[in-house]
Amino acid sequence: MARHLITSALPYINGIKHLGNMVGSMLPADVYSRYLRQRGHDVLYICATDEHGTPAELAAKERGVPVAEFCAEAHDAQKAVYDGYALAFDYFGRSSSPQNAEITQHFARRLNDNGFIEERAIRQVYSPADGRFLPDRYVEGTCPHCGYDKARGDQCENCTRVLDPTDLINPRSAISGSTELEVRETKHLFLLQSKLQNEVEAWVARHEADWPQLASSIARKWLTEGLHDRAITRDLDWGIPVPADTWPELAAEGKVFYVWFDAPIEYIGATKEWSDEDPENRDWKSWWYGPAAQDVRYTEFMAKDNVPFHTVMFPATELGVREPWKMVDYVKAFNWLTYYGGKFSTSQKRGVFTDQALEVLPADYWRYFLIANAPESDDSSFTWEHFTATVNKDLADTLGNFVNRVLSFSKKRFGDEVPAGGEPGEPETRLGEEIARLLAEYEEQLEALQFRKAAAALRALWSAGNSYLEEKAPWLQIKTDQEGAALTLRTAMNLIHLYAVVSEPLIPAKAQVMRAAFALADDKATWVTPAEAKSLTTLAPGVPFTVPPVLFAKLTDEDLETYKQRFGGASE
Ligand code: MF3
Ligand code: ZN
Repeated sequence: MARHLITSALPYINGIKHLGNMVGSMLPADVYSRYLRQRGHDVLYICATDEHGTPAELAAKERGVPVAEFCAEAHDAQKAVYDGYALAFDYFGRSSSPQNAEITQHFARRLNDNGFIEERAIRQVYSPADGRFLPDRYVEGTCPHCGYDKARGDQCENCTRVLDPTDLINPRSAISGSTELEVRETKHLFLLQSKLQNEVEAWVARHEADWPQLASSIARKWLTEGLHDRAITRDLDWGIPVPADTWPELAAEGKVFYVWFDAPIEYIGATKEWSDEDPENRDWKSWWYGPAAQDVRYTEFMAKDNVPFHTVMFPATELGVREPWKMVDYVKAFNWLTYYGGKFSTSQKRGVFTDQALEVLPADYWRYFLIANAPESDDSSFTWEHFTATVNKDLADTLGNFVNRVLSFSKKRFGDEVPAGGEPGEPETRLGEEIARLLAEYEEQLEALQFRKAAAALRALWSAGNSYLEEKAPWLQIKTDQEGAALTLRTAMNLIHLYAVVSEPLIPAKAQVMRAAFALADDKATWVTPAEAKSLTTLAPGVPFTVPPVLFAKLTDEDLETYKQRFGGASE
């Protein structure tokens, strides 16, 4: 039994996420956590909303509510959606928590003590009309690189280049629209990442061999370009205040930390939020700090745009603190999920949002499809055609139909209990060996965090049941060999029970339905090893069972048309 700390990139607070966001972070982290829990490991899966920064302030402004209120509501709204997908976080926190403020300020003081923070005067856009500095997205204007006229101060959405507000041509305030902007000098804290370059490089060199290529190549690229010192404070109302004990002047001016400084620290902050809810039984520090955390294996999940922050910037912060904080062991990075080959876009409302998807079909349909098509080695494209075809073939035909066919046929012929009958023969031995081999493959892919391959192995397990059933054809057997038909059905029911256990990480709700079909005392989805699975005799004759309702609905051409019409298809 090992201790596994698992985090997925913190979803930003400003809106409900689309499916691409989910498949690149939270969903695979949940699948992995569920698998490890089933195997008896001690798992702590932590996530939170990322709540600071200008997008939160601007979204609140647009809604006309105070930003704290906006964030509280938006947090609950996101949490409700994730519950809908059965994401089994041990804790889903908020980066605006007092815990995160305390740890973030502590990190900043330590970095300062160690000579990694410096106050620097910089020139910033100031708006007399608004009476404030305008950081990041508070300034809009024309991109100096591509001429796009709605570029934001932090980045141009058109050419994706990272910008500074002072780069923009014809800048205007995103608050008032005022174009009477000035550049004024003001002091900010800078994190001297350049001083930590060598240490980060050495740390990456020690770990990158274990990481997937996507993560290590991005880390390398950033290190080759060199770590730059960067401003870690902003002139905003909403954020973690610069501690007055260390920087009285900046604190008096109301400076707060930059969102990307405090967001990764919230992995720790949220763990403390979790611990503070039940301090007698939970010890956040044992997961994060010192020798107690040494046996923890820490795995992070994220999309590729987040990789620099997790492999270079946050490690630089942790190293600079000069305290034994737990650092990441494995970085699981994902490419993009596209919508018909184009971008999912929150701002342009293109693609499928996580809340809308649940209005269309229950979570397990989405969980399975997304994991089976996770953008691991490359981007992958979501299309409704592919989605409906996958649901029909894998979920409705291969798994669902098998379950219903076996159980309803057995009930009709042998009644409400697992039938007694003949002894296993050569076909059962062959099946057992095949199942053991495929289950070992499935385990191996899950351990290696290869989600597409894991889904393929699970699908192969389901198919093996179908092949066995076709081979034995109990509906024919029964005419001449009652005992033999009973053996076939009993063996198939054992497969259903096995599927119920091992499908749990991907389709937890349906797995529960399959398990509940059998009246067994132990309803826990305790893992079955390949060696145990081989005998296919967990369910003894006489165990009562019920036939569950159809597991997965078959989707029609009409359904497909409806989806395409609602969400837009290839031509949009
Ligand atoms: N909110 C960020 C995004 O959506 C991710 C933050 S991950 C963390 O891209 F490490 F900073 F927390
Ligand atoms: Zn541009």
